[in-house]
Order: sequence, then structure tokens, then C-alpha cells
Amino acid sequence: MATWNLTSTQQHILICNGSSCKKAGAEEVTQSIRQEITERGLDPVLHTSRTLCNGRCQDKCVVIAYPEGRWYKEVTSEDAAWFVDTLITGASREDKVSHAYNGTCFERTDGTVAGVEKDVAIVKKVSKTF
Ligand code: FES
Repeated sequence: MATWNLTSTQQHILICNGSSCKKAGAEEVTQSIRQEITERGLDPVLHTSRTLCNGRCQDKCVVIAYPEGRWYKEVTSEDAAWFVDTLITGASREDKVSHAYNGTCFERTDGTVAGVEKDVAIVKKVSKTF
């Protein structure tokens, strides 16, 4: 159990450890990203959390960075160095981004599987945003 003081945290990294991502190496991805963060002394500013399935299993392994709102796909343990570079420099590896938040919604990048459509009609009934 842990209760971290998050007041210096600048970014929150969600590392999917759902069953599809686990089969694709999520444990190794988790450990390599955490090791890279620690070796660079970035633990105070980059907080990581393991999650269950994020609903994008085809993109396994999935890693999500907030507050920038970027969803990364097909992340492997060998990707930890550039991934942490991306977080601290803001220079993104676009080929590894599946979705990026544009201020209103998440835009899917070229080459990313669309996935199953959600029922937008229901959202329209309960939200004036759409
Ligand atoms: S198990 Fe990772 S997105 Fe589903």
C-alpha cells in the first residue's frame, strides 16, 4: 500500500495491465518505464499507475499520459527511453500515438484501428456538449 504526496506531480502515466496488454508484455513495459523515470530522478514529477483494461486491446500495450491526453499504442519495454523523453521534452513519437486530445475529444491517428462505435445517440440525450 502506498499514499504518495502528489503535489509535485506534473504528469500521470497510466500503464494498462489488463489481460491483453499483460499477454503482450505489460509487466515489462511497466517496469522499464518506472526504471527509466527513477534513473532520471523524475519520480517527483512523473507518477505512474497500473490500470485494468482501457478498452483499446488491439493497441496493446497501451500507455496513456495526462494531462496532455495522449494514448500510446504498441508500447514495448524497449520504448521506455523515448517514452520518458517524450514526457519531458514534449516531442512526441507520432507513430506510437493512437489518440490525442484536441481540447474537445480524442482524435484517432492515421493507421490506428477505429474500434467498435459507441452509441452516440444516448450521449446526445444526456449531454448538451454534443
Ligand atoms: S488490456 Fe490493455 S487496453 Fe485492453
